[in-house]
Amino acid sequence: MLEQALLRLLQDQQPYTLSQVCELLELDMSTLLIQLEALEQKGILLKYDRQICQLLQKTELLDAQTILEKLPPSIYQQLSKIVILPSTESTNNYLLNYPTHKPIACLAEYQTQGRGRRGKQWLSPYASGICLSVKYHYTNPEVSLNRLSLALSVSVARLLYTMGISDVTVKWPNDIWWQERKLAGLLVETKLLNKHAYDIVVGIGLNVRIPHVDIEQAWIDLQTILPHPVSRNDVAAHLIEHILMTLQDYEKHGFHAYMADWERFDFLKGKKIKLLTTEGVVSGQAEGIDENGALLVKVGQKMKTFYSGEVSVSYDATD
Ligand code: BTN
Repeated sequence: MLEQALLRLLQDQQPYTLSQVCELLELDMSTLLIQLEALEQKGILLKYDRQICQLLQKTELLDAQTILEKLPPSIYQQLSKIVILPSTESTNNYLLNYPTHKPIACLAEYQTQGRGRRGKQWLSPYASGICLSVKYHYTNPEVSLNRLSLALSVSVARLLYTMGISDVTVKWPNDIWWQERKLAGLLVETKLLNKHAYDIVVGIGLNVRIPHVDIEQAWIDLQTILPHPVSRNDVAAHLIEHILMTLQDYEKHGFHAYMADWERFDFLKGKKIKLLTTEGVVSGQAEGIDENGALLVKVGQKMKTFYSGEVSVSYDATD
């Protein structure tokens, strides 16, 4: 795609004259100007006028071969394919509709309708984060999926911990936080095929190097936390490995091996919280999760369980 070629050319962050770029990419001037504007609208930081253009941010593009080479052989052999899309509606949608039941991963540089939980949008400027989905086929009707998404959150937190983020946390149900700010979110969806078989699509959005964007929520990216340069292709390979391993492991052993680490990484435990539910707002103290993965909240003297809701921490002493 033209955008990709343009980004590759400008990757060294040196100024290029527009006529130079037109010549190298065999473009006419008006097509080049349209492409530059399109990149800018997708959140890429660049400077251009009628004479020169220059990329103002380091932009490592995703590459399927590079990612495949970073995978351990056991994962590489199972994965039928890695699809990299310059732009798509949503990688989860793409895989939910993709005609295979074999394990497959899809990454996009940009999503036009990235989806979060509870009908929210997931916004990530072009080539600045990881928008990844992994599809997997379950045939064991005995497996309860209740806590699968929690196991996946633990697995991602473990990965980030080993990457050097010692204070990474999980925020019920499927967020990854760092110091009160959101670093990543998971959206797990299932497609029932028959009584015994379903496809699972695990979607993860992880902030890697985000130029300034207007996102309501407090957020953080990997590059701000870690003291060394972060490679998107490296992170993508690690995520695919961890997600696939967790999907397999959960199918055989369930949540058991994840409970201790959920407790260790639990951001909410012991905190005063507000939970926004369909019935209104509930205030109480978070007390961990129960055997179904529901959030336990102490409201007054009573312990209540919640299966869904939007949690925020109350810092107001009167709450
Ligand atoms: C959340 O925090 O609410 C979940 C965010 C999940 C975003 C990812 S990005 C890749 C995949 N495709 C989507 O449309 N959503 C998930």
